[in-house]
Amino acid sequence: MSSSDSSSYNKVSSGVTVIATTGIIAGSSVLIILTILIIKCVQNKKQPVSAEEQLTIATTSSPGSTLRGDLSIEMETISKFLKDIEKEKPMRFTPHHLIHFTNNYAEKLGSGEFGVVYKGRFPNGIKVAIKVLHGTSDNKRDEEQFMAHIRTISRTYHFNLVKIYGFCFDKAVKALVYEYMENGSLAHHLFDVSPNRIEWRKLREIAIGTAKGIRYLHEELQQKIVHYDIKPGNILLDANFNSKVADFGLAKLCDRENTCVTFTGASGTPGYAAPELWMPLPVTQKCDVYSFGMVLFEILGRRRNLDVRRGQSKQWYPKWVWQMFEQGQLETVISDSGVELKYQDKARAMCKVALLCVQYNPEERPSISSVVRMLEEEEEVIIMPTDPFHYLPSNA
Ligand SMILES: Nc1ncnc2c1ncn2[C@@H]1O[C@H](COP(=O)(O)OP(=O)(O)OP(=O)(O)O)[C@@H](O)[C@H]1O
Ligand SMILES: [Mg+2]
Repeated sequence: MSSSDSSSYNKVSSGVTVIATTGIIAGSSVLIILTILIIKCVQNKKQPVSAEEQLTIATTSSPGSTLRGDLSIEMETISKFLKDIEKEKPMRFTPHHLIHFTNNYAEKLGSGEFGVVYKGRFPNGIKVAIKVLHGTSDNKRDEEQFMAHIRTISRTYHFNLVKIYGFCFDKAVKALVYEYMENGSLAHHLFDVSPNRIEWRKLREIAIGTAKGIRYLHEELQQKIVHYDIKPGNILLDANFNSKVADFGLAKLCDRENTCVTFTGASGTPGYAAPELWMPLPVTQKCDVYSFGMVLFEILGRRRNLDVRRGQSKQWYPKWVWQMFEQGQLETVISDSGVELKYQDKARAMCKVALLCVQYNPEERPSISSVVRMLEEEEEVIIMPTDPFHYLPSNA
């Protein structure tokens, strides 16, 4: 090889070395960066934010912080929170969050025994109903009881129950945040002048759905829940008029052995409350069956059970239905209810189920699962009801 050949060979060889080295360094860097990115991704997936951390995120957003700061925290909180809904964990909100969700409590939906309900919206657009509870006590015992209550109701999941999204427990505000029900309460559709009259077939489905919601509370939960306040105002309707039982567990919590822990000291609503709730008698879940029977009467009559504007005999509808049944004139009740001919058998069955549900003796009332089967015509209504109102004075 000549000296000029050798020098050009050396130049080429050193050029190749430089290119190879640069390639190796660049390749390794890309590999290292990729590896770091993959590790980070895996770590992120492996470390979901715990419920406690999420609670901290929500509660550290203090009323004094800026709205912009709050909003970014809230957007982050809400997206994590939506994952929590899937995992059925309730979210803890501050009073400031509630002000923000309700636009400073701008729209009141109604009020009841336990508090006032407002319409609200999460920053991502999901509509909510926020029930701000009466009472301002915030001692440790109340808080523990409140939390135990929240844990119990947030473990419930059934198509026919209103979902709870979260709560607020603060010195000044105690509230429950529920999914919003587009069509309000059954009471509104039955008793108020409503432009969309619900057809009877749908009303029957609403009754069956409600019974299924109660069946879940009584028979399908580890810790049984007795509602104590079944009434058309606590049966809410979603956008498709599916029935959802609301306010379960607000009155009392009961375990399988029926040891009751009083939460608010409530004992049902007059007219729907079973006799054992206002008399010194033992109380079981059959009090819900009684109240459900009273709701069935109101569905059948499309009227409040007590209506003093009616003639004497029809002022209290359940008693009139019993008298008609006793005299073998159930047909009068059915034709009075305006049910279409093709549904009259179903209405007749509903009538008998209602009379069975409101029996004075709780043991003579059917279980709620039997009620579901009878309403769905899987079980025949064979037991004949006896006078449910024999204990009342004859002019009552
Ligand atoms: N999740 C909800 N979605 C839409 N509207 C609701 C919701 N919860 C309650 N409401 C409305 O607010 C009204 C008041 O509810 P609230 O539960 O306070 O009273 P109530 O059901 O009449 O009596 P009670 O205190 O015995 O439950 C309801 O009648 C209903 O119209
Ligand atoms: Mg209610």
